[in-house]
Amino acid sequence: MAVINSIFENNAQWIQQKLAADPEYFHKLNLGQAPEYLYIGCSDSRVTAEEIMGLAPGEVFVHRNIANLVVNNDLNGQAVIHFAVRHLKVKHIIISGHYNCGGVKASMQPDDLGILNPWLRNIRDVYRMYQEELDAIEDYTERNDRLVELNVIEQVTNVLKLKVVQQARKERNIQIHGWIFDFKTGKLKNMDIDIEKIERDLHRIYELK
Ligand code: CO
Repeated sequence: MAVINSIFENNAQWIQQKLAADPEYFHKLNLGQAPEYLYIGCSDSRVTAEEIMGLAPGEVFVHRNIANLVVNNDLNGQAVIHFAVRHLKVKHIIISGHYNCGGVKASMQPDDLGILNPWLRNIRDVYRMYQEELDAIEDYTERNDRLVELNVIEQVTNVLKLKVVQQARKERNIQIHGWIFDFKTGKLKNMDIDIEKIERDLHRIYELK
């Protein structure tokens, strides 16, 4: 209980800090949001989106789930992307994975994990797509890290399959990015994914009219 209560003490201190720097801080926060970024990352407690990016409240719209997936029939994730793109009109969509991801690790073992099975299936499908490349990597950590990277590429691809994103690409050139966070160094790495190449290679059945 004492630990839980300390959270409210932290909150009170935070309010004092913010007000000391700007007495209008909360008034301004209450006026609305116009973030330029949509960040889709992992729920892992070590991947604190705003803190890693050095962004303040109001600057980034955040969606986090296990292993930073963009799943076609996940109403939650799809609604977040739709709202961020069409209504908030974010300029950038970022898919950020991280090395040493528990979700990605779990998907590399053929264990029955109950309701996690259909979720992790999305990562297992990524494994199957790149099976040859991944199976050739003998070191487990290296193979895991590579699957983290490939998963980001595939989730970026999934973002590009969405009509709302295709439209925003045409109308206002919304930018899509794939990043990786590394706990060992704290470094956020831009994978420099060639978005135009993915768009060119994507089969035209995904190009919705
Ligand atoms: Co993770």
